[in-house]
Amino acid sequence: MSTYQCLWIEESDDKTSTHIQQRGLADLPQTNGILVRVAYSSLNYKDALSCAGNRAVTRKYPHQPGIDAAGTIEASDNAQLPIGTDVLITGYDLGMNTPGGLSEYIRVPSEWVLPVPEGLSLKNSMMFGTAGLTAALCINKLEHSGISPQHGPILVTGATGGVGSIATAILSERGYEVIAVTGKPDQQDYLKQIGANKVLLRAEVNEGSPRPLLKPAYAGAIDVAGGATLANLLKQIKPGGSVACCGLVDSPELNTTVMPFIIRGINLLGVDSVEISLSDKASAWKMVADFCQSDNGMAHMQLINQSIALQEAPDYLMKILRGEIQRHILVDMSL
Ligand SMILES: NC(=O)c1ccc[n+]([C@@H]2O[C@H](COP(=O)([O-])OP(=O)(O)OC[C@H]3O[C@@H](n4cnc5c(N)ncnc54)[C@H](OP(=O)(O)O)[C@@H]3O)[C@@H](O)[C@H]2O)c1
Repeated sequence: MSTYQCLWIEESDDKTSTHIQQRGLADLPQTNGILVRVAYSSLNYKDALSCAGNRAVTRKYPHQPGIDAAGTIEASDNAQLPIGTDVLITGYDLGMNTPGGLSEYIRVPSEWVLPVPEGLSLKNSMMFGTAGLTAALCINKLEHSGISPQHGPILVTGATGGVGSIATAILSERGYEVIAVTGKPDQQDYLKQIGANKVLLRAEVNEGSPRPLLKPAYAGAIDVAGGATLANLLKQIKPGGSVACCGLVDSPELNTTVMPFIIRGINLLGVDSVEISLSDKASAWKMVADFCQSDNGMAHMQLINQSIALQEAPDYLMKILRGEIQRHILVDMSL
């Protein structure tokens, strides 16, 4: 096959539009030695930003987006990664300025390529994708800071989104009491089905109090929101607790005081899933694989995921930008 289909973002008059495009395999970056036939990808907030023309994500258009891909190697310049190997590629420059995984084919450097870890398949690894990898990295950081289930409840923001849903399910399976925070009152049953013990509405957590500290209620938190959400939850963490900060759907700004840090000794832990080493990614994928083997793991992942065809991706990416997504979206190239 010399041509393939992909999602394609074009820009004209400062406006972007996204559609399916036929391209030639020769259009892929030939200096990258690993050609992968993609079987599954997933949709992420960052893909939506790329489609919206956000220059912090994608500098030049037209562009083939998609920060996640799982597929099979069809050409290789690396003996450690032979033809026929099933692999995962997440993060680095994939889908930012390198043609990305919302496509039947990608061509990437071998340093970005991880053989599918034991216990995972092409499909179930993309049911997690970057969102699940990030959730696992957040939980790793909380646990390395000393948090365990007996320390108390963990708050998860953006709980109906990709990172939030998967973090809720994994934390619950590891024995934590999970307090899910959502802006969607009609999704409380869903959040309880995937493991939340209690659901709070975003407005309750964001209640703007001028006080620098509030009643300490949570051992830790996983925050995808930033902004006022993060500032307010920092005030409510118990002494010695930790907050894993990984997103900015509310705002990239953080207006806080030093009080939670100097009076309660809490830790604000930054989480990056993009530029970390392949071995750090592999250890987070191990947590994901263990979760898949657990009693409720895959049953919860079936509830969390919605499968779509590549052709449906433009509409779903717009829904992500509008905050309307209520699941992790798996893109199945065979549909
Ligand atoms: N650091 C990293 O390496 C890394 C990796 C992956 C993702 N991220 C970041 O993490 C964030 C979440 O990613 P995702 O893929 O999970 O996105 P997503 O699937 O679109 O979910 C985001 C969720 O956030 C909630 N939300 C929307 N607007 C909000 C607002 N104004 N204030 C508070 N919550 C709001 C919504 O859930 P509710 O309605 O349930 O509240 C929404 O479903 C993004 O900022 C993304 O860039 C970072």
